[in-house]
Amino acid sequence: MKDLRSFIRDIPDYPRPGILFRDITPLLADAEALSRAIDVMAEPFLDAGVEVVAAAEARGFIFGTPLAMRLGAGFVPIRKPGKLPFDLHSFAYELEYGTDELQIHVDGIKPGQKVLIVDDLLATGGTIEACLRLLEKCEAKIVGCSFLIHLESLGGAARMEPYDVHAALRYE
Ligand code: PRP
Ligand code: ADE
Repeated sequence: MKDLRSFIRDIPDYPRPGILFRDITPLLADAEALSRAIDVMAEPFLDAGVEVVAAAEARGFIFGTPLAMRLGAGFVPIRKPGKLPFDLHSFAYELEYGTDELQIHVDGIKPGQKVLIVDDLLATGGTIEACLRLLEKCEAKIVGCSFLIHLESLGGAARMEPYDVHAALRYE
């Protein structure tokens, strides 16, 4: 099949001037490309004993749930304010194009559970840093982070230390 990279559509100046948006919708729409993306994102973690996959809405959910099923793990949602009904941990963060806050249920992860964090894309690292801090508040054992796309020039990997980045596709 075609390289996964050929399913990513570049949209200049979206959602703001100067942002090159990496649009994943062509990949999502192709059955073979979607399945291959899930395989590549799961592969390093097949034997890691992952118990729970955690992912932030919205695009993280698209990849997080099938990865959880592929790894035989549960799924815990990390959501924007006003969406989760029970007691919460919260963390505010900055995006490449704005600010936001993420939340997780205080009992979403049990202390010591082995958790893989999943998202479609790593840019400035604000979102993944918020997810890491929330999972640390839950006393999760973080086994790694898996992305479809890593935009390397935006410095996100540094905000994830000491955790490693695994990405199916990397862009300068
Ligand atoms: C996008 C993307 C990542 C994040 C990456 O989410 O899905 O979660 O940005 O950027 P960062 O590394 O600079 O944090 P966005 O907040 O746009 O929300 P969405 O998933 O609802 O589209
Ligand atoms: N999320 C943050 N930055 C992005 C980008 N450049 N393309 C797609 N999604 C993003």
